[in-house]
Amino acid sequence: MNRDNQPWWPVTAATIDWSDDGDPISNQFGDVYYSRENGLAESEHVFLRGNDLPRRWQNLTQDTFCIGETGFGTGLNFLLSWQLWRQLPQPRPRLHYLSIEKFPLRREDMQRALASWPELAPLSRQLLLCWPDLLPGQHRLILEGGQLTLDLWWEDVGDALPDLASHGPMIDAWYLDGFAPARNESMWQPALYDAMATLSRPGASFATFTAAGHVRRGLQEAGFKVEKAAGFGRKRECLRGTLARPGIDPGYRQTPWDLDQSPPSPADSALIIGAGLAGCTTAAALARRGISVTLLDAGELAGAASGNEQGILYTRLSKRHSALTDFALQSVHFAAALYRQMFASGELRRGEDGELCGSFQLQANEDELAILEERLATAPELAVVLQADAAQALLGVRPPGAGYWYPGSGWLNPPSLCRALVERPGITLLENCGELSLGQGRGQWQALREGKALAEAPLVIVCAGVSAAGFPGLEWLPLQAIRGQTSHIPCHGGSADLKAAFCHEGYIAPARNGSHCIGATFELRATDTALRGADHRHNLDKLAAALPQWQAHLEAIDIESLSGRVGFRCASPDYLPVAGPVPDRESFLQTYAGLRKNARHTIFARGNYMQGLYVNTAHGSRGLTSTPLVAEVLASRICAQAPPLSRELLRALSPARFLVRDLARNRI
Ligand SMILES: Cc1cc2nc3c(=O)[nH]c(=O)nc-3n(C[C@H](O)[C@H](O)[C@H](O)COP(=O)(O)OP(=O)(O)OC[C@H]3O[C@@H](n4cnc5c(N)ncnc54)[C@H](O)[C@@H]3O)c2cc1C
Ligand SMILES: C[S@@+](CC[C@H](N)C(=O)[O-])C[C@H]1O[C@@H](n2cnc3c(N)ncnc32)[C@H](O)[C@@H]1O
Repeated sequence: MNRDNQPWWPVTAATIDWSDDGDPISNQFGDVYYSRENGLAESEHVFLRGNDLPRRWQNLTQDTFCIGETGFGTGLNFLLSWQLWRQLPQPRPRLHYLSIEKFPLRREDMQRALASWPELAPLSRQLLLCWPDLLPGQHRLILEGGQLTLDLWWEDVGDALPDLASHGPMIDAWYLDGFAPARNESMWQPALYDAMATLSRPGASFATFTAAGHVRRGLQEAGFKVEKAAGFGRKRECLRGTLARPGIDPGYRQTPWDLDQSPPSPADSALIIGAGLAGCTTAAALARRGISVTLLDAGELAGAASGNEQGILYTRLSKRHSALTDFALQSVHFAAALYRQMFASGELRRGEDGELCGSFQLQANEDELAILEERLATAPELAVVLQADAAQALLGVRPPGAGYWYPGSGWLNPPSLCRALVERPGITLLENCGELSLGQGRGQWQALREGKALAEAPLVIVCAGVSAAGFPGLEWLPLQAIRGQTSHIPCHGGSADLKAAFCHEGYIAPARNGSHCIGATFELRATDTALRGADHRHNLDKLAAALPQWQAHLEAIDIESLSGRVGFRCASPDYLPVAGPVPDRESFLQTYAGLRKNARHTIFARGNYMQGLYVNTAHGSRGLTSTPLVAEVLASRICAQAPPLSRELLRALSPARFLVRDLARNRI
């Protein structure tokens, strides 16, 4: 869904009335979330057995099974499916559950509703722990050590299903659960049945609690074989069935340059060039899908931009939607959840490898603060506007003004994060390989060192920072290097009070091993790697301007004695990452040549992409935020699974966007 430039608001939460028995009733729709006789037994009967899951899951040969649901509500169907899946013997197929919900329940309402099912308590607790904010868009939750993916699309089903359908079949079973058709027509429309059919894999099934005639006919017309089955409790009948013929191609409302002419071939191994944050998160995302990864680097793990002592988990708020803001918010949410899990599991150590202690971002623009204060009122878990006094209580030091408090944010030591990610099973790390190039031989991609193949695989993902544009087929990528220097200042009396990360024109986090890594300079077109005294001074001056109470101490620091680090951020012209399959440039220029004459012209041709070649770079100043979600974008595409973002955002990240834009601007 394209929301560009529309005002940004959190999504509207469900308003719930509670029955005397403690059952939730939707105030928006005047209907119950599940049967008041026995919601749990109804869900099992209608949805799980309606899709024949207990039997199908016993005999499954595919490695991922995907359930699509219209209306997540209280998550009862999800929890029961999860519970059933957990009872399967190992190794079991991975479960992917994708649910679309326009009015998510607030956490406290979820908690109250789920308290009715003590038998599901261990699973409900886990769901509640990662329950997303009211942030518009997609939320990917990863559970069960990566074996279970829950995608929650906080959207209208009328927007989300057609968006997903453009990617083609991915769903094995449908739960149609959008309140009674008489109370909510929007969920029971022919266009949605058509999108369901397009999204259905061969053999896909559906089940729903309703037996309404127009629903039955609509599903039949879309290509489903429909049968009536006994309903639950007082309901006489319900509907279930399977896809009888493949769904129709939904057609194109915009030039489908982002969709691949030929589907990705399945692969069980991959090469990744570059072991920074991009390479390590991508390795972990592929490995959790069973792809064995060889991760190669010219130097050491996290030896380039990802080698800083401390980095902040930043995001960006704006009163209007844009691809940049929407991606920044969705990705910080996903990254924070990943890091929370890694601290909880012991993969990361608190204080040593980082700390999700919250962060405060100074904001001088009072008009914007006032607007966002109102808009954030229903999403306090995402961010809150704080005046200096309130910020001081959380930060431990007094900032010079108001700003945003991000409770889920914090700082990390990027090398520790990279190390923890590559220690996961299925990843082989080859460090100090020297500068690699790519070649092809025996139908595989090869990582070459002076013409000699060090490793080969059918897939390769180039995660080489700004050097990505040095690889054949990628020379045209508009990447630029931005030099940055950090300074390591020793802890002092006042700095021990700092309890959270503080972002001003620079940043500082609570001390790690007795010092704070502060930064950072931002310099285009500089290539020297030596530390500069002037840059240390710049970092100290910025900090002194933000914390005048530290000025005397900062001025007394001997610049000559300071250590620090120089790194090069890689940025794209629109400051979004560059991630996706690599387009065949010449073929793109021919196929979409018509855009030169008329940029708005729809050209009904999919893009021609290089088989098995992907890129992931341009994480700019926000790699800690962006790389985990971008890794999921790539891994989902490679494995032909549901994407974690809307198509609009996928297009905003795609490397091919630059070719299409340049054609439309008549620049190439
Ligand atoms: C000074 C500074 C401060 C920053 N502060 C923050 C912050 O606070 N928060 C935040 O989120 N982000 C911050 N960033 C940005 C963040 O560090 C980057 O976005 C992130 O590290 C990018 O990761 P990457 O894997 O894309 O690149 P890199 O970490 O640069 O990894 C690329 C890897 O590819 C390898 N490589 C390149 N070419 C080849 C080749 N031909 N053969 C083999 N290997 C090759 C390199 O050796 C390197 O290891 C900062 C960056 C800098 C420079
Ligand atoms: C009956 S409830 C779902 C119950 C749920 N499956 C469960 O297990 O608790 C129907 C859900 O559909 C959602 N809904 C209604 N209209 C919608 C729309 N147009 N798009 C997306 N979700 C919608 C409602 O907010 C509600 O949560």
